Amino acid sequence: MDGNGRWAQQRGLPRIAGHRAGVEAVRGLVKACAARGIEVLTLFAFSSENWRRPKTEVRLLMELFISALRQEVRKLHENNVRLRIIGERGQFPASLAAAIAEAEALTRNNSGLTLVIAASYGGRWDITRAVRRLAEKAASGALSPADISERMVADELCLHDLPEPDLFIRSGGEQRVSNYLLWQLAYTELYFTDCLWPDFDERQLELALASYARRQRRFGRTGEQVGAMLRPQRAGG
Ligand code: IPE
Ligand code: MG
Repeated sequence: MDGNGRWAQQRGLPRIAGHRAGVEAVRGLVKACAARGIEVLTLFAFSSENWRRPKTEVRLLMELFISALRQEVRKLHENNVRLRIIGERGQFPASLAAAIAEAEALTRNNSGLTLVIAASYGGRWDITRAVRRLAEKAASGALSPADISERMVADELCLHDLPEPDLFIRSGGEQRVSNYLLWQLAYTELYFTDCLWPDFDERQLELALASYARRQRRFGRTGEQVGAMLRPQRAGG
């Protein structure tokens, strides 16, 4: 979710006004995704590297995160949304960590949209953590290094129990992944838009989904193979 600061700047407002407008955009997007039957929506709210921002902006973002959580959790719960936060929680203020734990516990058994918020998250942090866990198992003798497989690495990642993303959307005009879900994005379709995040509405989502619908996902196979896999089987054939 990129472009909050520029959105505010264009209006002569402080950056935090852009972040507040960004929360509004999230609210609309969650609703739109739930209405379309999308199973998982993962939002990159704050990266491992965003701690480098000016202290006041970081503090205001944390406050906004807490107040948005407090305000929205009940409504999310009523709408059967399961909320999950991934990232390095140890870095959060205690009040935020507590609000997160409470929100996750409340919505744990919901069966609608899974809403994942990546906060203090970095793809490299995630992979490093997974590697450390496997190394611990190897050091203890429970695992032989020769047996380490891609599946085992994937199983140690934050989103191990969720499908890999089909579509990645980056707003705000930059065309980079910025340390997001590095492992999981291997075969994800990438979509970049100049739209600043606070302006990312249902129409923007439709544009992104329409672009996704035009892609052919081959996962290393040829176009002919994929075409044959998608053609309906003849009766008795
Ligand atoms: C929001 O957009 C992303 C967050 C880290 C909250 P930015 O704050 O990066 O907005 P720009 O890039 O300055 O416009
Ligand atoms: Mg930015």
